[in-house]
Amino acid sequence: MSRVHVGDADSFEDGSRAVVTVNGHEVAVLNYDGEYFAILNRCAHDGGALDEGKVHERLVADVTEPGERDVERFCDDPAVTCPLHGWEYDLETGVHVGDESIRLPTFDVVDDDGELFVVDPTTPES
Ligand code: FES
Repeated sequence: MSRVHVGDADSFEDGSRAVVTVNGHEVAVLNYDGEYFAILNRCAHDGGALDEGKVHERLVADVTEPGERDVERFCDDPAVTCPLHGWEYDLETGVHVGDESIRLPTFDVVDDDGELFVVDPTTPES
């Protein structure tokens, strides 16, 4: 698998964002709370740029019956909200938080001796 350089890990602090091209597709790279995430930078709804979206902990709730929710709380799984119309994606899995049939590709981010790379799983290493 080949890798795409993102930048220096020390300068890619919490809250940092970057966009790299992986196999011809824009990928948003995000540092949230010291963890690195990479997700396709194109919302499945209408192409919104997720690198411009808000990153936050997901709000979850127990559904007691259709239309009724109880015990809303934030969980540790970070999500990104599309800036255009608010679709929200789990940053670990790329799955839309309200519709599991919608999923954006996510990518591994590695820190190699202080340099960050996005791993392209589709391209053999050259
Ligand atoms: S383009 Fe992302 S929610 Fe509409």
